[in-house]
This record gives sequence, structure tokens and C-alpha cells, in this order.
Amino acid sequence: MKFDFFNERTPPLIGVDISSASVKMVELSEGPKGGYRIESYAIAPLAKDAVVDGNIAGLEQVGDAVKRAWKLMNTREKRVALALPAAAVISKKVLMQKGLREEDMELQVEAEANQYIPFSLDEVNIDFQVLGDSPTSPDEVEVIIAASRKEKIQDREAAAEAAGLKVVIMDVETYATEAAYRLAANQLPNAGRDQTVMIIDIGAVMMHINVLHNNQSVYIREQSFGGAQLTSEIQRRFGLSSDEAEIAKRKGGLPESYENEVLQPFMQSLALEVARALQFFTSSTQFNRVDHIMLAGGCASIPGIDAAVAERTQVNTIIANPFINMTLSSKIKQQLLNADAPSLMIACGLAMRRFDE
Ligand SMILES: Nc1ncnc2c1ncn2[C@@H]1O[C@H](COP(=O)(O)OP(=O)(O)OP(=O)(O)O)[C@@H](O)[C@H]1O
Ligand SMILES: [Mg+2]
Repeated sequence: MKFDFFNERTPPLIGVDISSASVKMVELSEGPKGGYRIESYAIAPLAKDAVVDGNIAGLEQVGDAVKRAWKLMNTREKRVALALPAAAVISKKVLMQKGLREEDMELQVEAEANQYIPFSLDEVNIDFQVLGDSPTSPDEVEVIIAASRKEKIQDREAAAEAAGLKVVIMDVETYATEAAYRLAANQLPNAGRDQTVMIIDIGAVMMHINVLHNNQSVYIREQSFGGAQLTSEIQRRFGLSSDEAEIAKRKGGLPESYENEVLQPFMQSLALEVARALQFFTSSTQFNRVDHIMLAGGCASIPGIDAAVAERTQVNTIIANPFINMTLSSKIKQQLLNADAPSLMIACGLAMRRFDE
């Protein structure tokens, strides 16, 4: 495998998101009129401690979940795109002289990397991509360099290989979210152009915040908060196992007190957490407002969560759906896809790598 956040041209592949609650997969193909078509997707739950802080702690469990998800996909494709958590990647924009040969660029990338990477260079994989002309200097181009420790990459690769899959792309989760956002932005007025949008992905344990201005990322943060808090409160209150609590959360069937005494307080603390993130963003950057909040991750599927966040923050809030304009293969049910869509942002962004220009 090439370590390439920025691979140029790629064959058909499946986008695979390995996160703390589950392994999620999405496969896209070209739809009619040049749009995308979603062929298939799958979510395979993971045991609690298999992935911790984005690191693979239980290789066998993760390998099993990847295999289970792949079987559910019912596909023949074995090539996959994976992503590293942002915390595992150091990236930096630098300027380089225009028109350098590939070898000279590589040398310069190494020299730059030597300066800002706190590990020896043979412990890391490095990749770079020319972003375009420098806005400030006519003889230079902007280049983004990304580096990650080899072991982080190898762990993920091993999980895919254990399931018989072949990794052809190693991306970064935040880049994948941004790719999927380009599709989900169609839900916004003027497709998000000239606006400031805060994407908040609330998963099981982490809240990932990514603010885009005019569709460019300007701010990235993480806060520890997630749906696991609600799951453990359900367990504690009603004496359930974590699996039972997880099922009850999605399918219902809990005592009447759940709604008012457990779910509502959780939704309020989620909204408060979002309000804090918003305040932190406006007070620590040049921006003094956001135009829209886009909720993603599993917690965005809680009915009414958009209204709760909008009320607390006074900002228009929508639920992310990157599949909004896609055609669906006959095996996908629209209603189920709508419910799962917010948690599939990363897998979808990775699946889009197939169509890289
Ligand atoms: N319909 C639903 N109602 C309530 N909670 C839900 C629903 N669907 C998923 N969740 C919750 O969302 C969480 C999982 O979200 P997601 O799949 O985005 O997490 P993750 O990406 O694995 O986690 P992280 O990003 O923290 O590593 C779980 O806590 C799960 O219970
Ligand atoms: Mg996640």
C-alpha cells in the first residue's frame, strides 16, 4: 500500500470507517447524469474496548467486525479506503518554489518534515500534495505535508487484512468528513457558499467539530462527549446490559420514565455542549458567528435533537445527509438510509475517493 492521503487516481473501492462504536462501510458507483449512486452500506457494532481513542486495541475484534460488515455489503470489491483519526496525523502547509521536479520536492518535504515531526523519519510515513498557487507569492506553490507514525497505519491495515481486504488508500477522518460535507452542503441554502458552517459529529465517545467557511475548513477541535453516556445511564437506571441498552436506545421499549428522566436531560446536555463549542469557536477565532450547524454521527439520529440544539444555540441546525442527491440501489431502503446517514459521513467521504480526479 502507498501511504496516500492524496492519491491521484484510484480503482473501485469501499470506504471503511473504523471507529469506537462500529465499523461502517459505504460503496458508491457512478449514477445517472454523473451523480453518485449508493450501491451498498453496512454497520457492524464493535465491542466497547476494541477501539480506544482511535487506536486499535483489539485487533481480532476489529478484524471480525470488518469481516461482518463486508459480508453485509454483499459485494465482490475487496479494495478499501481507510482513514486515520486526525489526532494520529500531523499536517502542515508550506510554500515551495514553482516548477520543482518530483525528486526535489520529495527532498524538500523531508527537510520540512524533519523540522516539525517529533519522531525519527524512519518511524513515519509522509505524503504531500500541491494545493495550488500561493496567494501571497507568485513564484511559489502551497504544499500540504501530512505525516503519521507507521504503527498507526499498520494497525489499521492489519485489521483490514485480517478480514481479507486490501487497503489502497489511507486518508484522514477530517478530510473524509469534508469530502462528504461537499455533498451534504446541498441541504443548505446556496449549498453553503459564503457561509460559516459548524459540522458537529457526535459519536459514541467523541464530539468532532469542524468549521467550514465558504466550504473551506477553518477550525478543528475535539471534545469528549458522546452517546455512550446515554447508554450507560440507560444501563444504570433500568438494569440492562450494554447491548440491551444500545438496542433499546434505537428501537424503544424502555419504561415511560425514560423519555423525561433520561433522554431529555441527555439531549439538553448535548445541546449545551454544542453551545459551548460554538462559544469557544467564536471567542477564539476571527469569526463572530456561524450561519448553520450540521449535526452528524450516531447521536444526530436522536429524534428532535436538531430542534434542541437550535433552541439552545439560536443557530439554524440540520441533520447531515451526504446521500441527499444520490440514486439508491434497489437493495437500500430510503427510510433506513436516512436514519443511518449522519453516522456514515466518514465512510461516505472515503468511498468518494474512488472518483478522485
Ligand atoms: N437512533 C439512535 N438514537 C440514539 N442514539 C443512537 C442512534 N443511532 C446511534 N446512536 C448512538 O450513536 C453512537 C454511535 O455513533 P457513531 O456511529 O457516530 O459513533 P462512532 O463513530 O463509532 O464513535 P466515535 O466517533 O466516538 O469514535 C452510539 O452511542 C449509539 O448508541
Ligand atoms: Mg465517528
